[in-house]
Amino acid sequence: MSDRYLSFTGTAPGRFLTRRLGLPQPAALRRWSPERPALDGDEVLHLTAGGPAPLSDSPSGSPSAVVLDATGVRDTDGLAGVHAALHPVIRSIAPSGRVVVLGAPLDPTDHHQAAAQQALEGFTRSLGKEIGRGRTVNLVRLTDRAAAESTLSFLLSPKSAYVSGQVIEVGTAASAAAASAAAVTVDPDRPLAGRTALVTGAARGIGAAVAQTLARDGARVVVLDVPQAEEDARRLAERLDGIALALDITAADAGERIAAELPDGLDVLVHNAGITRDRRLVNMPADRWSSVLDVNLASVLRTTDALLAAKALNDNGRIVATASIAGLAGNAGQTNYGASKAGIAGLVRSLAPRALAEHGVTVNAVAPGFIETRMTAAVPLLIREAGRRMNSLAQGGLPVDVAETAAWLAHPASGAVNGQVVRVCGQSLLGA
Ligand SMILES: NC(=O)c1ccc[n+]([C@@H]2O[C@H](COP(=O)([O-])OP(=O)(O)OC[C@H]3O[C@@H](n4cnc5c(N)ncnc54)[C@H](O)[C@@H]3O)[C@@H](O)[C@H]2O)c1
Repeated sequence: MSDRYLSFTGTAPGRFLTRRLGLPQPAALRRWSPERPALDGDEVLHLTAGGPAPLSDSPSGSPSAVVLDATGVRDTDGLAGVHAALHPVIRSIAPSGRVVVLGAPLDPTDHHQAAAQQALEGFTRSLGKEIGRGRTVNLVRLTDRAAAESTLSFLLSPKSAYVSGQVIEVGTAASAAAASAAAVTVDPDRPLAGRTALVTGAARGIGAAVAQTLARDGARVVVLDVPQAEEDARRLAERLDGIALALDITAADAGERIAAELPDGLDVLVHNAGITRDRRLVNMPADRWSSVLDVNLASVLRTTDALLAAKALNDNGRIVATASIAGLAGNAGQTNYGASKAGIAGLVRSLAPRALAEHGVTVNAVAPGFIETRMTAAVPLLIREAGRRMNSLAQGGLPVDVAETAAWLAHPASGAVNGQVVRVCGQSLLGA
């Protein structure tokens, strides 16, 4: 569904009027395309907090991104180096540019270091809210720079257009499997070549975009959806050179049926299928509660358990589940949906270390904010308009924004990213 306000503010009279009225000024976000795969602007500027001060007139003119290494910040004095490094250059960063702050894990034995490193989180989220012009700010906490390469290339590309204000931990659950996965060499244009990816609820909306994006990255895609959506699933699978699987994911034996369908195993499993049945709790009959919990959470647990037990997920495999900011922030009328999506975050955090240690499989989730799909087109106009604007980028995201995030998590070199719930929400004010 089109965002008419965004189109209007892209015109000269629209810009004039909205500026005069003090209304939000969403920038047209630069997204990835084969013709324009890199960010606009000049070279990425690499700075270190406490390092040599950058020239106020940046040598690279208008950098496409700034990477600030703040891993060495151990106390509040060190935080002055963050200000000293970024203050002179922030204005020059190109539209839809990036700021990526590199931090270190919090040291439980040193509260000065922990305070300073946690401060980077508040800094990142605050800068994300003020930077404007379609630019994003994210914090990556890392222990091993090499293990974070796939994460940095995602954040420093147009693929992360709608990911802002996030704190992503890389390598904290580093095990032998994660370390070896980080060293995997892949074709950068087709990182998933030779891999099989299954996406549930892929006949339309976000799931269809995920299937397309994983196919673009070289995966053989299995497009799973309910039998009623079989025609759409089949058409998409044909277009992507993949296969369609008509299956209700709530079937008790769904996991076993998927495993039987894929004798060579599965490399990437994206749990995307989801439904809403909104009502306030006082008006909610038990069937609306249970259908949402079953599709959005119980079936995810059941199929994941069945596929892991059947060893159907190959080594260096990936599970990407779909949460929602409604599960993180809560939403009136969505006690069932919010519970189901918060449950996904719990599943991810608990299973991730074990799945990596026992199966060599990472488990992460994407948590979309307001994404323009049929699901959000059904939301009443005023609430829809509020949902679109109440984020730092002042617009809704597109299904492809969630898909690109899933593709980064699915990347063979993302083995050190584990147990993360990454919001794709333009830094929504909800649950921030
Ligand atoms: N659109 C948003 O703004 C938004 C925000 C947060 C989270 N999400 C989540 O993203 C996911 C995709 O959302 P969407 O907006 O594309 O929804 P959508 O309604 O457009 O598509 C959902 C798909 O899942 C399929 N599906 C539903 N029940 C199924 C079942 N039992 N078995 C197999 N397939 C089933 C549907 O047939 C449909 O093709 C969902 O999990 C949703 O909760 C969406």
